[in-house]
Order: sequence, then structure tokens, then C-alpha cells
Amino acid sequence: MRMVLFGKNGQLGWEFQRILPLLGEVIALGRHEVDVSNLQNVKETLDELKPNLIINTSAYTEVDQAETEAELAIKINALAPGVMAEAARKHGAVFIHYSTDYVFDGTSDVPYTESNGPNPLNTYGKSKLMGEENIKQAGYACLILRTSWVYSLRGNSFVNKVLGWARKNETLKIVSDQISNPTWARMLAGITSLMIAQNSVNLLEVVRERRGVYHLAGSGYTSRYEWAKQILANDPDRSEQVVRNLEPALSNDFPTPALRPLFSALDCTHFEETFGLQLPAWDSALKLAMMR
Ligand SMILES: NC(=O)c1ccc[n+]([C@@H]2O[C@H](COP(=O)([O-])OP(=O)(O)OC[C@H]3O[C@@H](n4cnc5c(N)ncnc54)[C@H](OP(=O)(O)O)[C@@H]3O)[C@@H](O)[C@H]2O)c1
Repeated sequence: MRMVLFGKNGQLGWEFQRILPLLGEVIALGRHEVDVSNLQNVKETLDELKPNLIINTSAYTEVDQAETEAELAIKINALAPGVMAEAARKHGAVFIHYSTDYVFDGTSDVPYTESNGPNPLNTYGKSKLMGEENIKQAGYACLILRTSWVYSLRGNSFVNKVLGWARKNETLKIVSDQISNPTWARMLAGITSLMIAQNSVNLLEVVRERRGVYHLAGSGYTSRYEWAKQILANDPDRSEQVVRNLEPALSNDFPTPALRPLFSALDCTHFEETFGLQLPAWDSALKLAMMR
């Protein structure tokens, strides 16, 4: 199997780079190899490489900045995935793409299923939803995997931010009214790869039959405040923390350029039942992620 991975240096892309070589030949591309906002370049690259599987983890993920850079966010999150999906159809390849819980408005009080209607509150969410629609229009062997609150121990994730803040501040205020599923990037790459491996003999047929949108995130949900509490408790270098008080706050206390959904937890039953795989609980994944 010949695989092309876009976004190799992101949280999720990095984890895919580690695991995909177990499944075949991988051509991993970052911004310096292919800038996905250059749509012609995306098309030419895929025409040249003719992969059997395209995985897109590249995305414009700066939620607040997207409010003032809508055009670029739309190119990267909406138009480029459409071009990738069309190339997949042309070359008879499977296309796996990631979307977001931010396609929902957060007014539900039970986890969202795939049959709930989207209604994004911000430009990032709108651009990701446009991406989903563009992929569906290509309508071939495409999986759109909506995930939520992705973190890794590399880079500027919420986990690393909390660990950093805890070393500089005695009191931390973290919002308790935003609720979703923390998702470890390694778990997400792992379960996607397992699904690919289990169906590798006839992946194209399986994905064509089961194409569409799936929710795929850490099992269970929590608030950012509770998540931060668990991050501090699992910190392998707790003695370095100076934080003494962790206080719940409200999103309104921290106004941001982009509105965020309050309750955007995802119900992942459809993925689990369709592919016979079980997602680990978000808090056990966090423990594993932070273990030394
Ligand atoms: N992070 C979350 O909390 C979250 C939540 C829900 C859904 N998701 C979705 O999950 C997927 C993976 O997210 P992630 O957390 O791994 O994101 P990430 O860490 O921000 O990685 C995104 C990658 O896309 C690359 N990229 C951005 N613009 C590009 C361009 N013009 N050309 C080529 N590459 C470009 C970035 O390159 P550089 O490294 O060069 O900047 C980065 O490596 C995305 O589809 C995202 O929308 C994420």
C-alpha cells in the first residue's frame, strides 16, 4: 500500500508518521514539501504519487486567528480537502480526513451523533464544515472523522499549556463550562491505523461501502477545568509545580475573537459499531500519555 500523509508535523500527523510505516510505503508531507493552500500543487503532487490511501491531518487550526484570516482558513480546511477527495476518486484511492466538534453550536446537553445537524459558531468550524461538504461531493471512498480537543505531549497543546502555567502561577483559572472529549493524538492515529490494518485486504471496497462522517474521540467527556485537574495530577514532575489553587471560571471571563461551543462532546458509537473497535476512556489515555 502506498500512502500519502499531509500535515506530517502536526500533533496527529507526527503520530501517523510513527505508525504508518507498519502498513506500507509512506510519503509524509509537511508545509515545506506541499503548501496545501496551493491547490494546484496538491493536485499535481497526488497525480504524480498516485497513492492508494491519502490521509489528511493538515489543517488551519488557529481558531481565533481564523476570524481575520477566513480566506486562508477556507483554502486549507475546505478547498484543499475537496481537491484531495477528487484526486482520490481519480486514482481509486481511499481518503481519510479529520474534522471537528466545532461544526456544532454546543447547545445540546447529550453527546452529538452524526445525525445531529451542524451549526458552527466560528470561521474555523464553518471552514471545516465546508471541507466536509466538498469531500462528500467527490463522494468516493472517503471517511470524515470528526474529533475533539486533540492533544499531544509535543508542541503547544492544552496539556503542555497547563503544565507550563502550573510552573509559573500559584492560582490557575480554567473554564468549567466548555465540555468535550479530550483526545490523545497517538490514540487517534493508532485506532485509525488499526481500522486500516484490519481492512487492508479490501480497504477500498470497505470504505466505499461505509463512507461518510464518523465521530472519533476519547471515550467519555469532561470540562476543561476537570481535564486540567487530571493533567496536574498526572504530571510526572509535580514537584516543579508552584500552583496552589485551581479555580473554575466561565468562558465569558475570557472573551476570545472566536465563539466556542460550550457542550461539544461527541458520541462515537457509530465508529465503534461499524469497525468493531473500542475507544479508550479519555482519562486512561491521558494517564498513558503522561506516563514516563
Ligand atoms: N487540535 C484540536 O484540538 C482539534 C480538535 C478537533 C479537530 N481537530 C482536527 O484534527 C486534525 C489534526 O489536528 P492537529 O491537532 O494535529 O493540528 P495541528 O497540530 O495544528 O497540525 C496541523 C498541521 O497542518 C499543517 N498546515 C497548516 N497549514 C498548512 C499549509 N498551508 N500547508 C501544509 N500544511 C499546513 C501545519 O503545519 P506546520 O506544522 O508547518 O504549522 C501542522 O503541521 C485537523 O483536521 C484538525 O482540524 C483538531
